[in-house]
Amino acid sequence: MSIQNKNKDDRNFENEVRTGLAGFPKRLSSKFIYDKKGDRLFQQIMEMPTYYLYNCEYEILERHSKQLSKLFCNEDETVSLIDLGAGDGKKTKILLRYMVQNNFDIVYKPVDISQTILEELKDSLKKELPTLQVEPEKGEYFQVLNKLKTYNKTKKVILVLGSNIGNLLHPKAIEFMSSLKDALNPDDLLFMGFDQKKNPQTILDAYNDSEGITAAFNKNILYRINNEFDADFEPEKFIHWEVYNPETGTAKSYLVATEDMDVKIRNLAMDVHFEKWETIHVEISQKYTDAVVSWLADESGLRIINSFTDSREYYRNYIFIPKY
Ligand code: AVI
Repeated sequence: MSIQNKNKDDRNFENEVRTGLAGFPKRLSSKFIYDKKGDRLFQQIMEMPTYYLYNCEYEILERHSKQLSKLFCNEDETVSLIDLGAGDGKKTKILLRYMVQNNFDIVYKPVDISQTILEELKDSLKKELPTLQVEPEKGEYFQVLNKLKTYNKTKKVILVLGSNIGNLLHPKAIEFMSSLKDALNPDDLLFMGFDQKKNPQTILDAYNDSEGITAAFNKNILYRINNEFDADFEPEKFIHWEVYNPETGTAKSYLVATEDMDVKIRNLAMDVHFEKWETIHVEISQKYTDAVVSWLADESGLRIINSFTDSREYYRNYIFIPKY
């Protein structure tokens, strides 16, 4: 699930389609890829061996559970672990299991936009870790973050897993990190994953699978426009194209028209013309270095106090505190 995937308001999607397809070059934000089918395709992406991000973060949590638990929670202290965009909680469960088995005093607050997902997670935790106190919060990130500002019953550790930040351009990433910072009290912590720069081929392979799952994921945005605005895109006439710039660390996904096309979007009274080989820019997946993460933190009023990586050093989770 993406950071941006928090406002499924139809009007936002409508605005995006109106502005993104009327301008040049054409663009559509990846936050609108996600509907039921988009979520399912993303789930499949996370299971692909080439999409290393998931396994790397999993490994980090497994390797460093003990140290992380100690950093998050002192003896005689209750800590609330707030998991933004918890989903199925599979990665967070590694840490929760360790903390429960070692008698850390924690409250787990998974945050998600989907009530169903939260209920499934709560039920599974009841079976797997019956003594864990679970307090789900349904809502959009920013809504919940606002609420969390005044939450000071216990120390908080906010978890943002999955390198979702990479789908934001730096100014938006700073906005997001600043709002996380605003939700932190002086003793609270933020734990966040950032995919790192690495061999450009490894990055291209992660976003260019031979089975076409990533292509189907990106094209889902065209199917959504067809379904929700009565449009007649022919997604099979677009190809998915990934580029990675090793200088800036930015991977970009495009949909490329393979012939001249005129697309009707009836509910928005729009006619969109595509020239052969014209592009729609759909997604950015930013890759980071320590220096860039430090800069983002600094701009957002945060400071890095520690970080953890996987055995291949592909991915890094940082612990931030608010600068006061
Ligand atoms: C959700 N986000 C972090 C994923 C990424 O890696 O940018 C979305 C994704 N797009 C294609 N594959 C995965």
